[in-house]
Amino acid sequence: MEFKIGKSNSTKVIYAFENCDLCGLSETLKAYVNENKLFKGKRGEIFTNLGPNSENLILVGLGKKDEISLENIRRSFLKLGKTLKANNVSSCDIKINKFEGICYKLTAQAIMEGIINSTYSFDKFLKEKNDKYSCEIFLEVEEDKKEKISDGIKEIKVLTEAVFMCRDLVNRPANDIYPETLANFAKDELEKVGVNVEILEKKQIEALKMEAFLAVSRGSDLPPKFIIMKYLPNKDEKPIVLVGKGLTYDAGGLAIKPATGMVDMKTDMGGSAAVISTMYAIGKMNIQRNVIALVASCENMINGSAYRNGDIISSMKGSTIEVINTDAEGRLTLADALYYGASKLNPECIIDVATLTGACIYALGGKVVGAVSNNDEIFEKVKNSADIMGEYLWRFPVFEEHRESVKGKIADLLNSTGPGSGGAITAGIFLEHFVENTPWVHLDIAGPSHSATAWGINPQGASGIPVKTLYNFVKKFNK
Ligand code: BES
Ligand code: ZN
Ligand code: ZN
Repeated sequence: MEFKIGKSNSTKVIYAFENCDLCGLSETLKAYVNENKLFKGKRGEIFTNLGPNSENLILVGLGKKDEISLENIRRSFLKLGKTLKANNVSSCDIKINKFEGICYKLTAQAIMEGIINSTYSFDKFLKEKNDKYSCEIFLEVEEDKKEKISDGIKEIKVLTEAVFMCRDLVNRPANDIYPETLANFAKDELEKVGVNVEILEKKQIEALKMEAFLAVSRGSDLPPKFIIMKYLPNKDEKPIVLVGKGLTYDAGGLAIKPATGMVDMKTDMGGSAAVISTMYAIGKMNIQRNVIALVASCENMINGSAYRNGDIISSMKGSTIEVINTDAEGRLTLADALYYGASKLNPECIIDVATLTGACIYALGGKVVGAVSNNDEIFEKVKNSADIMGEYLWRFPVFEEHRESVKGKIADLLNSTGPGSGGAITAGIFLEHFVENTPWVHLDIAGPSHSATAWGINPQGASGIPVKTLYNFVKKFNK
């Protein structure tokens, strides 16, 4: 999709609230539409009048006026994007309106984002590729807003590119994306946009004494990689540290998963895909904020060297951990990545992103990011960012008993707290132990990272969540 500021006098896109006067249509067409109840303006409703002898226009419903939001705009315009493609429209005009209480630039971006999202498909493994389609879309904007909107076009293109990058990474299977290819992908893509990427090999990981990460990786024949991505445009500024869970496959280890639950575990690197893609957007947009992203990438498999249920392992911090369940592996890899960030990078704050627990899906449903945090101010920044970007996020409460339940009797910590213990919360609290009082927010994306069915503006498969939240959080941090 190609966006330009201006007007082409080709197909006209008109959007309207429910039961609104349809200005822009001829009186005859308006009467025809109303009499036959062809368009009421319901959210996502579309009416087309295209082809020979038509007025060459498309109506898009926005729903009730008092329910207007950026996310509702995105969702309505996703439908428009699909309609443009279905009708093979080559160019169209959209006038950007000012809605009460919503920023003009964000409105324009929401419109574009909805449309661009209609074009995503994952066809890397199909012999016959999906049809490519593009449309020249002209935006009619207020005279004094042209510059702002033209910046907005550039930004939303980069941001959706990053979201699509994340989706592709998560959708790619584990025989294609494994620690080495994930690390190389980060290096190749991020160095293009000014992000420095360092890949630590097994020997270097051993030298750092990342015993918890190494224990998980031992059951796989593929070597682990520790990926450090640095974007440091400012002098003397503490970095925001992003940490992503990078399990390129989670078979469960000796606590092996049933086959049905295993297929989707190629997506257990969704957190790492999100932080890598966020770094891409930050670099490409030249965001003036120091950020470092970390990924401890490995597979959770079974071979003769695999760690066992019952093992007591150490960690970079030196805390010992009793492995109650080898399938609670994510927190072990994250423990060392978080401690590396907290102890070596002098961070302003740390945000980790992980497909961490099935319990999070039980608690909040499959479309919501679950958060655990030790800092109200940083959490609120993340939450505001998620709200603006249309990504659902909710914070879990933490009580004394949650903290108690991760404490061990024969080791310092337990890696699993069992059913009925508030597994999404206790997993977060396990991680908190390794952030050394750094302001920190943990985002459990086990649910919304990918889905068997399309929802909102997300396609079936990977969603790219929470790239938009992270990008906006970093961009707005100093403001
Ligand atoms: N990667 C899974 C969590 C997960 C489950 C992500 C479903 C996406 C969808 C994680 O490593 C895991 O297996 N967690 C266990 C923890 C338990 C053993 C304490 C879980 O949630 O069952
Ligand atoms: Zn697991
Ligand atoms: Zn996992």
